[in-house]
Amino acid sequence: MDATAAAKLLDHYAANARDLPWRLATRDPYRTWLSEVMLQQTTVATVTPRFRRFLERWPTVQALAAAPEEEILGEWAGLGYYARARNLIACARAVAERGRFPATESELRKLPGLGAYTAAAVAAIAFGEDAVPVDTNVERVVARVFGLAKRADVPAAARTWFPAGRHGDFAQALMDLGASICRPKRPACDRCPLAADCRAAALGTPEAFPAPKVK
Ligand code: ADE
Ligand code: SF4
Repeated sequence: MDATAAAKLLDHYAANARDLPWRLATRDPYRTWLSEVMLQQTTVATVTPRFRRFLERWPTVQALAAAPEEEILGEWAGLGYYARARNLIACARAVAERGRFPATESELRKLPGLGAYTAAAVAAIAFGEDAVPVDTNVERVVARVFGLAKRADVPAAARTWFPAGRHGDFAQALMDLGASICRPKRPACDRCPLAADCRAAALGTPEAFPAPKVK
């Protein structure tokens, strides 16, 4: 994939990025981490007001780490599995203990409950590392642009395409595109900034990429 396609997507993102409360001019790893954990199995629409309340109540990771577990679990209600809230608490306490969030993907990965996706997302978005977070939206858009049926082939293609120094914005640009234009069903290729560069669109069968998960 050539660099102009990436530039087109970044331009489109600059003009159309959703105004979400965890997206700030200033990078704050606590906000990035909290939002990514909340967004794991919950929609942006549900997370947005809950994220604001959490931040008001516990503005820093130190504040969250010092809060009683029942209060955090109470505030988490409706956001899905309590296991995630328990991991959140364990992670906040580990970070508060060491003083701050570690700044690299490999160190972030060692925190309790932080999976590969979240470590890459925080490293790229909050710390500007060239890590490659692949969630379901990123996976779908990359699979279509490159014409990849196999999900296992997506991370390597993504690594070739993400522009150096811009991984955080690029990942979020792909997430927004996947949520609005490159939807799972009936993607709006006619108004997609990547239409001219997209293999799946050229084949006329965007929904065929990536191939359905084997159940
Ligand atoms: N889903 C997961 N992370 C996201 C982010 N940073 N922006 C929008 N949607 C997301
Ligand atoms: Fe998705 Fe269509 Fe855009 Fe390709 S052209 S990235 S299939 S919306």
